[in-house]
Amino acid sequence: MRKNIVAGNWKMNTTLQEGVALAKEINEALKGVETKCDVVLATPFIHLVSVVEAVDAARIGVGDENCADKVEGAYTGEVSAAMVASTGAKYVILGHSERRAYYHETAEILKDKVVLALANGLTPIFCVGEVLEEREAEKHFDVVAAQIKESLFDLTAEDFAKIVIAYEPVWAIGTGKTATADQAQEIHAFIRQTIAEKYGNEIAENTSILYGGSCKPSNAGEIFAKPDVDGGLIGGAALKADSFMGIITAFE
Ligand code: 13P
Repeated sequence: MRKNIVAGNWKMNTTLQEGVALAKEINEALKGVETKCDVVLATPFIHLVSVVEAVDAARIGVGDENCADKVEGAYTGEVSAAMVASTGAKYVILGHSERRAYYHETAEILKDKVVLALANGLTPIFCVGEVLEEREAEKHFDVVAAQIKESLFDLTAEDFAKIVIAYEPVWAIGTGKTATADQAQEIHAFIRQTIAEKYGNEIAENTSILYGGSCKPSNAGEIFAKPDVDGGLIGGAALKADSFMGIITAFE
């Protein structure tokens, strides 16, 4: 059976000290609390080592927000998947819409990143999602299918089975405007169907598909209750322990 996951994406927020304090607060808050999901904290690169040390690995998986598309060498300022893995991190967010839009990450670049992440034992949380104009033109299904096919469908079934997908409509990120639970369910079911057509029902049924975009304690329960929504990728609401805990405990 697929896992429920709630992952916080801290983006470019928190100093090292603030980040460690937040991780410790979440770690404390989880003590004695039974959860129906795996919990992931995806932090800036430089926080990884300290956050891995600060949390109980049995309760919290640590992840990064990006990694390089090259193995190693003369790529000043880049951080490789092997470096990320060497910190004890287990996950890496790839293809976030902010990386695609601001840092020009193409489907081809993301394909290479996914391969390197998997080769280093990291679980990619692969983000897809349409911009507002695409949604309004009813192109969101085509956009999302293309993002998945172009970067992931050259993987073997064995490797694809290690991927977590996050559907994040760009118009809902940081805007306070969430997709409705029905909109999320509709496109999550479509994503699962797209996976089933390529890799078969068993792999599709076992793939965790997370929703992201202005998810908060007040709307997480309704969204997570949908059959094809397996948790969330959380931005703003992951930066406070109480709101992040409110989302973690939102599963029925
Ligand atoms: P918000 O939750 O702040 O809308 O961000 C969502 C997101 O981009 C998570 O990756």
